[in-house]
Amino acid sequence: MRKFNVAVVGATGAVGLRMLEVLDDRKFPIGELKLLASERSSGSSLTFKSEKIPVEVLSKNSFKGIDIALFSAGASVSREYIPSAVKSGTVVIDNSSAYRNDPEVPLVIPEINPDDVSLHRGIISNPNCTTAIMLTVLYSIYKFSRIKKIIVSSYQSVSGAGQKGINELEEQTGCLIGGKKLSVSKFPHQIANNVIPHIDVFTDNGYTKEEMKMLLETRKILHDEKIAVSATCVRVPVKSVHSMAVTLITEKSISVEKVRELITNAQGVQLFDDPSRNIYPMPVICEGEYDCFAGRIRKDIALRNAISLWICGDQLLKGAALNAVQIAELLIKIKK
Ligand code: A2P
Repeated sequence: MRKFNVAVVGATGAVGLRMLEVLDDRKFPIGELKLLASERSSGSSLTFKSEKIPVEVLSKNSFKGIDIALFSAGASVSREYIPSAVKSGTVVIDNSSAYRNDPEVPLVIPEINPDDVSLHRGIISNPNCTTAIMLTVLYSIYKFSRIKKIIVSSYQSVSGAGQKGINELEEQTGCLIGGKKLSVSKFPHQIANNVIPHIDVFTDNGYTKEEMKMLLETRKILHDEKIAVSATCVRVPVKSVHSMAVTLITEKSISVEKVRELITNAQGVQLFDDPSRNIYPMPVICEGEYDCFAGRIRKDIALRNAISLWICGDQLLKGAALNAVQIAELLIKIKK
């Protein structure tokens, strides 16, 4: 079996570390593994399959001989280094927002648009975490009856802001318990004991960039320029699972039983829906899981042809590392 030389850019970060775990867990056929991060990590090492691998400082020469690079070091690092990686013949799977709206760059959720991978010209984008989790759950419904509109409120975990986001929640929680003064740096306000209706920067129409990503990326992944998405994205004091309350309006009427059946048979999704026994998805259940979870499925009582439901998924996994490795798995099927 052919093996592939893989680089992980941002290997020391919250997503990068999960990428290593997922590559190992899914037995990705790796030849050489190169771990790249900033100068801050110079001299450190990480363990992969019980082997200690040094972390190297990312440079424009890092990609010689690398077949596939998984980038998760933020959009500015992606913009600066991905062109050099592509010039070296590396195919990049980019977890940042840098290239997601570029018409020449496929944006892929393997359960939805796997064929788009073959259209790449050196870069494939991994979608925004909330969009990836939401669409993984909604796709089977979409296939049954096109979804015309989605109204979604997200409850997004601090891991979306990387390891520093997780650290800030833990530090602030410690300060609150200990009665100490807390400091705020990663989020616009204190996140412990709070919810913040503000993720990424505000745009001219009153929505944030994070909210606009849910509209634009949904359209690109589904190849449906007409679908409407109105999102309110909210940061909550939860470690790594994103949750969302979703109302969707379908073209055809669809029963709750049919939605349950579709979700039960969907790839990468678990139905977790028995309110009579207090069973519905929650972050404490979904943390560390590859699958996304759906529950609280009901006919919306305010709108026609509408279903409301509750979705949870691990932001670091299906929202980032798992989806990226699944794209790499599709890529090597083509490269063989
Ligand atoms: P480092 O740990 O050396 O700072 P997170 O999203 O959890 O904050 O992780 C961000 C990841 O991106 C880390 O691995 C971080 O490395 C890496 N990173 C950040 N800035 C750079 C940069 N300029 N060059 C290379 N890697 C970077």
